Amino acid sequence: MITMNEHYLKLQASYLFSDIAKRVNAYQADHPDQTIIRLGIGDVTRALPEACISAFHRAVDEMADDATFRGYGPELGYDFLQEAIVSGDFQPRGVTLRPDEVFVSDGAKCDSGNFQELFAPDTRVAVPDPVYPVYVDTNVMAGRTAAWRDGRYEGLVYLESTADNQYIPALPQEAVDLIYLCFPNNPTGSMITADQLRPWVDYAREHNALILYDAAYVEFIRDNSLPQSIYEIDGAKEVAVEFRSLSKTAGFTGTRCAYTIVPRECQVYDSQGNAHALHDLWDRRQSTKFNSVSYPVQRAAEAAFSPEGRKQIRELSTYYLGNAALIRAAMTSLGYACVGGEHSPYVWIKTNTDSWEFFDRLLQKAGVVCTPGAGFGKCGEGYVRLSAFNSRENVETALQRVSDALGRA
Ligand code: MLT
Repeated sequence: MITMNEHYLKLQASYLFSDIAKRVNAYQADHPDQTIIRLGIGDVTRALPEACISAFHRAVDEMADDATFRGYGPELGYDFLQEAIVSGDFQPRGVTLRPDEVFVSDGAKCDSGNFQELFAPDTRVAVPDPVYPVYVDTNVMAGRTAAWRDGRYEGLVYLESTADNQYIPALPQEAVDLIYLCFPNNPTGSMITADQLRPWVDYAREHNALILYDAAYVEFIRDNSLPQSIYEIDGAKEVAVEFRSLSKTAGFTGTRCAYTIVPRECQVYDSQGNAHALHDLWDRRQSTKFNSVSYPVQRAAEAAFSPEGRKQIRELSTYYLGNAALIRAAMTSLGYACVGGEHSPYVWIKTNTDSWEFFDRLLQKAGVVCTPGAGFGKCGEGYVRLSAFNSRENVETALQRVSDALGRA
């Protein structure tokens, strides 16, 4: 008899964004004439930057010729992309990395979900609340939690991120081994300063803990004094892994390319207390289970780091930030308290009501999809997230409809 991994039985019925998609599809089937505007999942809508598309085409042409064709590439990514990432994303911020500390992948979702495989089942895990659900669900699947009770999994340490602490959680009160942080934050859109980030690195060093730092939205930071990488904090290379992605940065949600930095200094311990290089474990895991990203996609990604690519990416993110500013202004003028949208494509809105009820109201009365805050954790109850990833025209139409529907202008 094949028996199941019963930890799956603890999970909520479906993944947050699948659940929303099902509800929206059901509503659309019942209201075929309604034009629905999706400001729910953070999925980009604008074309790939010209620099990336040209490189993509050239690489496809190479694949069409025996002389330039490529079969399997290096499991951890081509040198040309690893080098472009180090010199494009880290050197300008004063962070020195070796190209082989960059692991190219097909998504920050996959990497942030898979990384926990490297740790013991009894690892004590701390997650922010609200939080990107992948961090939680993958630890549930791995058996690091007990049951779901009263909106939380027993066995996880929740780090509350609320208006009271400006959405920057306090350090855990108890010892934990693995800490997930995400800045610019998904879902609240908040950003952390270097002074606020430093104590986390110090905590991890003091407790031999590890930080999994998700920087998927780094391109949206507009204040140069804010940290773009956790490695800008002294000592972080010993205790932090960083996830980055071209999805939101360069419009790659459908093209798939991301990367994870695992510095060689970063250590993990066996049950005898002996240190091992985390880099070697992730290398072993990835080269066993993954065959990297296709050659044309890696060439397209490389082009994102060229001077033209950089400029085009900045234009893209500026466009979406323009949408975020409109969303924040409109919701504020309707009387809703908002945060985010300044260094992030997400605006976090206090609904003063149950967040799924607000989701239904927006869908039914305005034909607009948001993400209910409760889907990101207990502290998200009473909030919704609006995403700026859509055309300007759709965002303006959505905001007009929301204003008409909610009628608090
Ligand atoms: C989100 O909307 O939070 C993200 O797009 C989901 C993801 O990146 O997987």
